[in-house]
Amino acid sequence: MAKTLNIIGLSGSLRRESYTSKLLLAFQRLAPSGVSLDLVSIGDLPFINEDLEGQLPDSVQNWHRTIEESDGVLFATPEYNRSYSPVLKNAIDWGSRPDGYNAWDGKPAGVLGSTLYNLGTFGAQQHLRQVLMYLNLPTLQQPEFYLERSAEKFAPDGTLTDLHTEEKIREYWEAFEKWARRFASTE
Ligand SMILES: Cc1cc2nc3c(=O)[nH]c(=O)nc-3n(C[C@H](O)[C@H](O)[C@H](O)COP(=O)(O)O)c2cc1C
Repeated sequence: MAKTLNIIGLSGSLRRESYTSKLLLAFQRLAPSGVSLDLVSIGDLPFINEDLEGQLPDSVQNWHRTIEESDGVLFATPEYNRSYSPVLKNAIDWGSRPDGYNAWDGKPAGVLGSTLYNLGTFGAQQHLRQVLMYLNLPTLQQPEFYLERSAEKFAPDGTLTDLHTEEKIREYWEAFEKWARRFASTE
């Protein structure tokens, strides 16, 4: 039997009622049987600062371990002024420091975005993809995933209620699991 894939999910929003985080919860609920999605909090990492690199804070060391032990990463971002969020950038940057170290190297990745509006997260996702390419994360190209009008898609308790989105999540997982397995170790 194929080994269970340990995927980490990162929300680029720290907001308590974040739709981006709720979207990841829906991905977690709908994960295929061979995949576990661990939602990792990235809001407690210090702001990136090279002065801290001499003695890496525990939170950064733990962060490196979390990335290293994962079989892949789902990056979920809101769109802030046509780019992705600074909290996500901070977490990505720490994964690539100190100089010469890159916890991301070779990790299969997927990019998701959510917005309140009809149009959104294309700009965020494109900026994010550019950085993931530089850090050598092979990133699923199709299907893309855009959650528009996010506020209409969830019940007050945070459960996804939109069946079309649920279907899109299942399709995404099917493609992403195949993608991640291409890079997974067989041990
Ligand atoms: C600083 C800032 C800039 C924003 N810029 C955009 C934008 O460029 N495009 C967009 O669709 N929404 C933009 N929004 C609105 C977000 O889509 C909205 O706040 C969304 O709910 C954030 O995601 P969350 O629910 O996961 O927190 C912006 C919000 C903030 C706080």
